Amino acid sequence: SKAERIERVRSLITSIEGFPKPGITFRDIFPVMRDPAVFADCMALLTEHVRDLKQPIDAVVGLDARGFIFGIVLAQQLGVSFVPIRKAGKLPGETIQVSYTLEYGSATFEVQKDALQAAQKVIIIDDLLATGGTMAAACKLIKQLECDIVECVVVIELTDLKGRDKLTDKIFSLTTYS
Ligand code: PRP
Ligand code: ADE
Repeated sequence: SKAERIERVRSLITSIEGFPKPGITFRDIFPVMRDPAVFADCMALLTEHVRDLKQPIDAVVGLDARGFIFGIVLAQQLGVSFVPIRKAGKLPGETIQVSYTLEYGSATFEVQKDALQAAQKVIIIDDLLATGGTMAAACKLIKQLECDIVECVVVIELTDLKGRDKLTDKIFSLTTYS
């Protein structure tokens, strides 16, 4: 069943106290990728969810760095473009930038201006939603390119941090932790 497949994914996510800073409980997604069958299940669940939205999608936007892994597979499975939002200073050509804070730091995001055209329909994907600073910043960039955000998708949502409240777009999470 779907619930059992989600539970298999969840069972491989590990929790590390005090990483990368005291007071943070780090939820590590990489053990999921060590098991190809469970990672395949995870990607199938995300793909099925997006297909079930029954909306046209032009591109999947993945967030540096863990969002790239989920994003590239999702884009391939949907048969649409993959567009990376990168930490600043890594993308050539004309870009737009936004600075933001996250649970344990701050950073600047960047996207190539020619990666998306106005009115395109996009899914934004990341591994995890904590305070929501990262996802909110990504939404801001995508809106500056005049694209429509169909949904924001994450594998893990840390509900206590209320990242969802920072977002004006629809957000879907496969699993939650409190
Ligand atoms: C992590 C995670 C999300 C973000 C969530 O990324 O992958 O992108 O934090 O935090 P927030 O909801 O509080 O903004 P990180 O910047 O550590 O980068 P990485 O993916 O490159 O490891
Ligand atoms: N990104 C922001 N907060 C995080 C956490 N607690 N675990 C893993 N990634 C994160």
